[in-house]
Amino acid sequence: MFYKLATMASALQALRVPLTRTGMMMMSTQTGHAMRRKAIPQVVRSYSAGPGAKEGGSKVGLWAVLAAAGAGGGYYAWSSGIFTGAKGPRTAEDYQKVYNAIAKIMDDSEYDDGSYGPVLVRLAWHASGTYDKTTKDGGSHKGTMRFEPESKHGANAGLHIARAKLEAVKSQFPWISYGDLWTLAGVVAVQEMGGPIIPWKPGRVDGTAADCPPDGRLPDGANPTPQHPRDVFYRMGFNDQEIVALIGAHTLGRCHTDRSGFDGPWTNSPTAFSNSFFVELLNRKWVEKKWNGPKQFVDKESGQLMMLPADMAFVKDSAFKKWVDAYAKDEKQYFADFAQAYQKLLELGVPFPEGTKDMKFKPT
Ligand code: HEM
Repeated sequence: MFYKLATMASALQALRVPLTRTGMMMMSTQTGHAMRRKAIPQVVRSYSAGPGAKEGGSKVGLWAVLAAAGAGGGYYAWSSGIFTGAKGPRTAEDYQKVYNAIAKIMDDSEYDDGSYGPVLVRLAWHASGTYDKTTKDGGSHKGTMRFEPESKHGANAGLHIARAKLEAVKSQFPWISYGDLWTLAGVVAVQEMGGPIIPWKPGRVDGTAADCPPDGRLPDGANPTPQHPRDVFYRMGFNDQEIVALIGAHTLGRCHTDRSGFDGPWTNSPTAFSNSFFVELLNRKWVEKKWNGPKQFVDKESGQLMMLPADMAFVKDSAFKKWVDAYAKDEKQYFADFAQAYQKLLELGVPFPEGTKDMKFKPT
């Protein structure tokens, strides 16, 4: 018996599993450049990073820990990818594999315009856009949108579809955190739909419901004032040029009456990343849609395209419009500026360990 326990203890050591006072097992998985920790209370798998769990000596609670070790060690082996053959720290190649897996599940002729890409971009943005530079909370770091109340925030309506879709990838690569998975999916979606290369880095950790940001941090499509996007995006640390670059993502996807209440796509190519949002916004005549729904605009000519009251603010305000004009004229500049602003968005509030390097992924 003693031999078995000693073997298990040294096996745990070999797996770099520090034992703690509380009978929790701190599990370390090396990501490409970051050390991620998860606390597993006894045998039960938890989403919690175990804020109460401190690393420490193994004197007290050793027996309890060893009792849990069989199941916990199995969990560790599974979550660290031992069973999938992965060894050592996660590399850019490992993340390229996750990238490829996301790219593989993106297209689906049965869904919307044939791709989950746009809703993945919206997931990455809503996971990140809750950041507050003053309180330094929110953002993608803790992947909190899978918890209530954040999952139920009105602005996130419909994003359960994107999160559920990505579960297939999560089960293939259980070692990746939700924040890393969702932001990487946002990168995959932009790149696979023909957008610019977005440098990305890993390092987000799974938090708990207690880490959810308060409701009301994301913008409201019904708000027509230029002050509204400024209030929201300045809070995150963006300037006017970056705000305009980001809103250009409305080239992609569409509004759904059962999610936001609004209806329709912004462009005729909602699954191709381009500067079309700016071109359409400037060149079409936009009239109020006559319907039994929230106020929105449709293009007078075809009635098929839409703009939110919030989108129209970008041509009403001269400091914003300057950038709308620039991006409508110069798609190359738009791609470069979008890549910079989008990377910044996805990284808001993530304390990457020093020396964490950007990764760039090859489109499939
Ligand atoms: C003033 C700022 C913004 C407002 C008010 C706004 C509002 C909205 C609304 C109301 C929808 C429709 C949701 C639905 O019914 O499915 C939507 C969709 C979308 N938004 Fe935004 N948004 C803003 C900024 C952004 C930013 C910064 C990005 C990305 C960088 C983005 C990307 C998208 C995408 C890709 C969709 C389409 C989703 C799909 O097809 O399922 N939005 N947005």
